[in-house]
Amino acid sequence: MITETKKAATLLREGKLVAFPTETVYGLGGNALSDAAVAAIYAAKERPQFNPLIVHVQSLEEAQIYAEFSEAALELARRFWPGPLTLVLPRRPDCALSLLVSAGLDSVAIRVPAHPLAQELLQEAGLPIAAPSANRSGRISPTEAAHVREELGNRIAMILDGGPCQVGIESTVVDMTGDMPVILRPGGLVIPAEAGIYSRIDSRLRGNDSIKSPGQLASHYAPSKPMRLNATYVRTYEALLVFGADIPSSAVAIENLSPTGNLQEAAANLFRMLRLLDASTAKSIAVMPIPEEGVGIAINDRLKRAAS
Ligand code: TXA
Ligand code: MG
Repeated sequence: MITETKKAATLLREGKLVAFPTETVYGLGGNALSDAAVAAIYAAKERPQFNPLIVHVQSLEEAQIYAEFSEAALELARRFWPGPLTLVLPRRPDCALSLLVSAGLDSVAIRVPAHPLAQELLQEAGLPIAAPSANRSGRISPTEAAHVREELGNRIAMILDGGPCQVGIESTVVDMTGDMPVILRPGGLVIPAEAGIYSRIDSRLRGNDSIKSPGQLASHYAPSKPMRLNATYVRTYEALLVFGADIPSSAVAIENLSPTGNLQEAAANLFRMLRLLDASTAKSIAVMPIPEEGVGIAINDRLKRAAS
């Protein structure tokens, strides 16, 4: 019997697009060695060409075929791969990855996903897989196969269903091309302070933010309804996204990210609940405050972009 994963791998080798689960969100995958496949990803997502893509590989050893690793980069990769960490690294001079994945930069973003189906797919396909989140550009990232079907259903060859994503929020992106590692996008991996990595805020102070994080468009991850953040009360026409036990009693629709106040659980629920509230009859969405700590930093980053 041909498994779904084998079928997906064959399609990828034929240059087609396949959505697949990772531990963070579903990815829209294509052969990262093929300009045509990568161009098809941009087209399916309606993504601006200047926003580069993440390349997924099986291992650190495979990543080293394409990118240059400093000692510091090796240390991070050994410590956190496989997992929700993306490293932006210099392309090797002989790098065979499509130039389109880098969107004109001389760097490439690489990660080794931890999800068993993603690992299996990479192994079966025997290719590096370029994959942005499997949503149309600017919209909410998919954490279930059904979300991908809504976003891209008829535009892609296949969706590999691995159930809901466990982390639920995209990988942490760290730029390793400069003197100091810089977090370009907070994400599912909370990097401990002792790892000595600058946040994006620090890099902005250093004045080089614009070139380094082309994907950080202010408006992103957006529901179609207006959003109001840090809400302490709810208006009659609003849907409400809450966190914790202490919540207002009435709203057109309510979703609770985590009744026990667990940030990991909140991250895993975030995009699914935003979709549910967006589909409600409410005019707009109010969001109660989320603590700015741990993975809450990534949650607040996504909420701010969704609201802007
Ligand atoms: O968890 C994730 O990272 C998911 C799963 C599918 O792996 N992927 C994902 O991809 O979120 P995407 O394309 O939606 O976001 C990629 C981010 C963007 O912010 C992009 O600008 C940044 O990574 N990026 C990619 N290549 C880069 C590069 N060479 N330099 C700087 N930033 C880069
Ligand atoms: Mg995305």
